[in-house]
Amino acid sequence: MRAEDTVLLTGRDAGRVAAAAEEIRRSPKVVARVEDRVLDVSRPEAVAALAEELRGRHSGADVVISNAAARLRPDVSQAAQADEFIDVSNGGTHAVLRSFPQVLRPGGRLLVVASSLGTLGRLPESLHPMFDGATLDQVEHVVESWRSSIHRGVARETGWPLWLNLPSKVAQVAAVRAVAADRRGQDLANDIMIASVCPGMVDTAASRPWFTDYSAAQSPKQAAEAVLDLALATSADPALYGELVRFGEVLPWRGGTRPTEQEGLLIP
Ligand SMILES: NC(=O)c1ccc[n+]([C@@H]2O[C@H](COP(=O)([O-])OP(=O)(O)OC[C@H]3O[C@@H](n4cnc5c(N)ncnc54)[C@H](OP(=O)(O)O)[C@@H]3O)[C@@H](O)[C@H]2O)c1
Repeated sequence: MRAEDTVLLTGRDAGRVAAAAEEIRRSPKVVARVEDRVLDVSRPEAVAALAEELRGRHSGADVVISNAAARLRPDVSQAAQADEFIDVSNGGTHAVLRSFPQVLRPGGRLLVVASSLGTLGRLPESLHPMFDGATLDQVEHVVESWRSSIHRGVARETGWPLWLNLPSKVAQVAAVRAVAADRRGQDLANDIMIASVCPGMVDTAASRPWFTDYSAAQSPKQAAEAVLDLALATSADPALYGELVRFGEVLPWRGGTRPTEQEGLLIP
C-alpha cells in the first residue's frame, strides 16, 4: 500500500464505521489515506452511486471486497429473518456485482466473501438446475422466488432447506459465476480477478450460534489473511477466476455434500 492509495471502509452504522477507520489510521503500518463511509448494501442505488463516485474521484477501484451479511439468530424463526438476510447477503452481492466490475481498473480485484456452504452439492439435487449456469438476472429471479416461497409457507415442500444460509450462499457463488462467465476474457486480458471466497471458520458473533466446536476457528484478523492474499496477488490466476476460493484452492462448484452436524454445524 502506498501513501497515495485510499482505503474506503464502509458500514451501515456511522459510529461503528468511523471507529473502525480510526483504529486502522492509528496503525503505524498504514500509510494510505483511510476514509469511512456509511453504506447500506441492501440499497442498490447507494451501492451504484458509490461505484460511480469512485469512477469520478479515482478513475475506479483496485480492490473491492463485498463482505456484508446480516446475522441469523437460532432463537428466531428463519422465515422472520428472511427479508433482511436476503436483502443484505444476496441483494448486496447483486448490487455490488452490477455496479463494481465496470469500475475495476486494470489489475483490479473484486471478491465476494461467501462460504464453503456455497457449492451446489450443499443443496438438494432438485434445486441445482436453477443455479447451474444461471445468468445474474436468473439468480436474482431464483432468489426472489425462494423468498416468496418462504413467505407463502411452501419453501420446504418445494425442496428449499430451512436454514437461510445455504440457499443464500449458493446464490452468492452462482451470482459471481454468472458475472465472471460474461467477463472472463476481457478481465483476464486486463489482469482483473473476480471470485467468491470462503474465509474458513471464523470466530464472530454471527457464526458463534451455529457451530458446536470453536477450537479450530480463526480470529477475523487471521481469516483476513487468505482473502487479502487473493486480493493482493501479483497476477490474476485464470484457474481461480470466477471460482469459489478457500485458502488459495478452488472449491469445485458442483462439489460439496449436504451439511451435517458431523461438520460441527447446528442446522435448523
Ligand atoms: N464467521 C464464519 O465462520 C464464516 C465462515 C464462512 C463464511 N463467512 C462469511 O463471511 C462474511 C462475514 O461474516 P462474519 O462472520 O464476519 O459476520 P459479521 O461479523 O456479522 O460481519 C458482517 C458485517 O456485515 C455488516 N452488515 C450487516 N448488514 C449490513 C448492511 N445492510 N450494509 C452494510 N453492512 C452490513 C455488519 O455490520 P454491523 O457492524 O453494522 O452489524 C458486519 O460488519 C459472511 O458472508 C459470512 O457468511 C463467515
